[in-house]
Amino acid sequence: MANMTGATLLELDNVTKRFGEHVAVDHLTMNVQQGEIVALLGRTGAGKSTVMGLLMGSISCDEGGVRVAGHDPSRDFQALRGKMSVSFQTDRLLPWRSAVENVELGMQILNFPKDKIRPTAVEWLRRVNLNGAEDKYVHELSGGMRQRVSLARALAVDPELLLLDESFSQLDHVTSQVLRRDFAQIVREYGKTCVFVTHRIDDALEMADRIFVLAAPARVKLEIVLNAADRANPARMAGIHEEIAAAIGAGPDE
Ligand SMILES: Nc1ncnc2c1ncn2[C@@H]1O[C@H](COP(=O)(O)OP(=O)(O)OP(=O)(O)O)[C@@H](O)[C@H]1O
Ligand SMILES: [Mg+2]
Repeated sequence: MANMTGATLLELDNVTKRFGEHVAVDHLTMNVQQGEIVALLGRTGAGKSTVMGLLMGSISCDEGGVRVAGHDPSRDFQALRGKMSVSFQTDRLLPWRSAVENVELGMQILNFPKDKIRPTAVEWLRRVNLNGAEDKYVHELSGGMRQRVSLARALAVDPELLLLDESFSQLDHVTSQVLRRDFAQIVREYGKTCVFVTHRIDDALEMADRIFVLAAPARVKLEIVLNAADRANPARMAGIHEEIAAAIGAGPDE
């Protein structure tokens, strides 16, 4: 929360999205402030990835409005170029490129100065604890290392906003625990805004300033605001965990 400025960076205003007859998002209203880390939880099919698609502009809504830094992401691609980075469950690394070359990709697409690209990529690999792995190819990296490369690539373009869909969920528990700790620290340190989707309540509790539990068709079933005092209070965290589990697990639409 240290980096929050109070300005709204993301806005979903009464958004409805249908796929044919199927309502995937039903009059959803949700805001994210600058510098906030927000987690989206909810059962499979709740509409989490659809919400992420609406935010990144790959899906346009049928009703309502989506705003990212004041722009409509499905129309104003150009205005948002370089401001937003995404990382998905599947790491989407290029197998014919080494780790450092994969991190360079986003900067190359955005025409960063040529002499800045390599040092910046190497520095981000160091920040995600992958120094020494720069020249390894994707098949030589573990799943956790690949996720780190993917995150380094997302962060290297210095985006204002990071959108992560299940980026931590493929990993074993210990790897994902270390990675999400490092990641939350980096996001806070550099003042980024982040929305991430996860299936794990613990991920959300550990990293997020705010948690939304979505229920199909994507509507906010529960909203939780967390601060450092909450995190330091195990009984309070256990209570919140239970509340979230109940919200995910029950309901007329499940
Ligand atoms: N392109 C599409 N065409 C048709 N239906 C879709 C499409 N994308 C999503 N849906 C439907 O919209 C609903 C929400 O899907 P979405 O992928 O957003 O869920 P999710 O919360 O991300 O689920 P998961 O946890 O499994 O990733 C689902 O019922 C899904 O079948
Ligand atoms: Mg999904």
